[in-house]
Amino acid sequence: MIKMRHIGKTYAQDGVKTVALKDVSFEVSSGEFVAIMGPSGSGKSTLMHILGALDTPTSGQYFLDNEDISKLDDDQLADIRNQKIGFVFQSFNLLPRTTALKNVMLPMAYAGISEGERRAKALQLLDEVGLSDRTEHLSNQLSGGQQQRVAIARALSMDPKIILADEPTGNIATTQAKEIMEIFSKLHRQGRTIIMITHEEDIARHAKRVIVIRDGLITEDKKL
Ligand SMILES: Nc1ncnc2c1ncn2[C@@H]1O[C@H](COP(=O)(O)OP(=O)(O)OP(=O)(O)O)[C@@H](O)[C@H]1O
Ligand SMILES: [Mg+2]
Repeated sequence: MIKMRHIGKTYAQDGVKTVALKDVSFEVSSGEFVAIMGPSGSGKSTLMHILGALDTPTSGQYFLDNEDISKLDDDQLADIRNQKIGFVFQSFNLLPRTTALKNVMLPMAYAGISEGERRAKALQLLDEVGLSDRTEHLSNQLSGGQQQRVAIARALSMDPKIILADEPTGNIATTQAKEIMEIFSKLHRQGRTIIMITHEEDIARHAKRVIVIRDGLITEDKKL
C-alpha cells in the first residue's frame, strides 16, 4: 500500500539547508499498525508530512497504492489527502467555538456530501469514540482527551484507508491517553492502516511494528 524508496528531504530557508531525511526506504501493508519513534529533530514529523501528502520529498519515490505521488502538484496532493488519509495531530487542530458535531462534519462538506448524510455520519462517528453526549459542546468546552476523540472522529469522516497520527497523546493526561489508544487499537482491529509517531514506549506498545529514526535514517524496524 505504502512504498517509500530512498526518500530524502532537505529544507532550504534563507540560504540555510537542513537535511531532515537522508535516505529512508520502507513499506507498509494494508492493515498494519506502525509506530514511528526517535529523538527530537530526527525527522519523524517530516516523514509524516511526506506520508500524508502534505509535503513532497526532495529525492526518492513515494508510491501510494502503486501510484508515484512524489512529484504531484498541490491540487493533486490535496485530492489524495481527502480520499485516502485521515490526520490526527498532537494539538487536535479543531475549529474553536465550533461544536464537536460541526467539526466532524466539515471534511464531508468539502467533499460535497449532503447535510443530512454528513450529520448522520458525524453522529455515528462521535458515538463510536464515546462522545454521543457531547455532540453540541463547543470544542473549547471539551477536555483534551475529548478533543482528541473529536479529532479522530473527524479523521474518519471520509473513510480513509490510512490514519496518520503525530504524537496523538502528547497533550493529554495519562488516563485519557489510554482511552485514545484503545480507540486506535479498535480501528486497527477494524482493518485500518495506522501510522503513529510517539516518544513514549508505553504508547508504541499498542502498535504491531516499530520503526526508529535517528538523524534522518531508519536505524531499527521491528515487529512487536
Ligand atoms: N519547515 C522547516 N524548515 C526548515 N527546517 C525544518 C523544517 N521542518 C523541520 N525542519 C528541521 O528538520 C529536522 C527534522 O525535523 P522534524 O520536525 O521532522 O523532527 P521530529 O523528529 O518530528 O522532532 P520532534 O520529536 O521534536 O517533533 C530538524 O532539524 C528541524 O529543525
Ligand atoms: Mg515532530
